[in-house]
Amino acid sequence: MNAIEQIHELREQLAQLRQERTKEGRLPTVGFVPTMGYLHEGHASLMRAAKEQCDIVVLSIFVNPIQFGPNEDLDKYPRDAERDLALAERLGVDLVFLPTVDTMYPSPTKTKVNVKEVTTLLCGARRPGHFDGVTTVVSKLFNIVQPDYAFFGMKDAQQVAVIQQMVEDLNFPVTIVPCPIIREEDGLALSSRNVYLSEQQRQEALVLSQSLFQVDTWMQSGEVTTVSELRARIVQHIETSPQADIDYVEILSFPQLTELDASTSLHAHRGQAIIALAVRFGTTRLIDNRIL
Ligand code: PAJ
Repeated sequence: MNAIEQIHELREQLAQLRQERTKEGRLPTVGFVPTMGYLHEGHASLMRAAKEQCDIVVLSIFVNPIQFGPNEDLDKYPRDAERDLALAERLGVDLVFLPTVDTMYPSPTKTKVNVKEVTTLLCGARRPGHFDGVTTVVSKLFNIVQPDYAFFGMKDAQQVAVIQQMVEDLNFPVTIVPCPIIREEDGLALSSRNVYLSEQQRQEALVLSQSLFQVDTWMQSGEVTTVSELRARIVQHIETSPQADIDYVEILSFPQLTELDASTSLHAHRGQAIIALAVRFGTTRLIDNRIL
């Protein structure tokens, strides 16, 4: 399968596909999966969902420099275009857009898309400018591809909330489809960054998913009943890993991402709260979350 590097080429090939797949006057739907590549089963699940729901599937692979901070892993971000293209082909993706940095940013961009409030906490508070980089590149990609549906993983739940807010505020004619988190058999959420973990760190990283799954047991047994008790219990579990260095453990409303009264009963927030975790193992920062 060939990757398309130029914007005009992508537009031409997509226009041709749209024409070919128009049936009895009904235009085909376009599903879009934006990624930074080094694809794994998490990305594959988004492509499968797009394939199921849409007539045409477009994948983008672009390690977007403007969403990385100065001390982050832009230079060492893992890449394997050949393997990514083979996977996309196997999954029946129609077009893969793989632009260069020069194609996306021929000159330093003077326009930034900035979503307020939902970007100021969790990862937004720890990675200044990160979400501006995400919303700016996703706006550009939406304008280039003009999809009907765009598929995002709940692995990055805050990203979903931010993109949804942006689409609503700026009237992008696209429906955002949030997709469930895909995990390894032992529970670790799949991430392109998992390759950075040593064997020991990989083992200890299980405290994230374990603490999210144990919530039910802790609640049923009455061990935790309030937001603050649950938070403390999760911190306690994560700290059983010697290498874990907690960045944040937060329980917020979802998708608004506002603070919950720490003393309120957890049952009052069922289905409307998110438990969000960010934990460092050495230099690798992992995130995970679960809707309560
Ligand atoms: P990237 O980290 O490559 O992720 C691309 C998409 O895959 C995101 O929507 C992410 O939530 C989803 N994803 C990653 N791991 C997943 C998992 N274990 N289960 C389900 N979905 C998973 O997110 C980005 O790239 C970038 O910020 C991007 C949106 C492409 C903008 O540059």
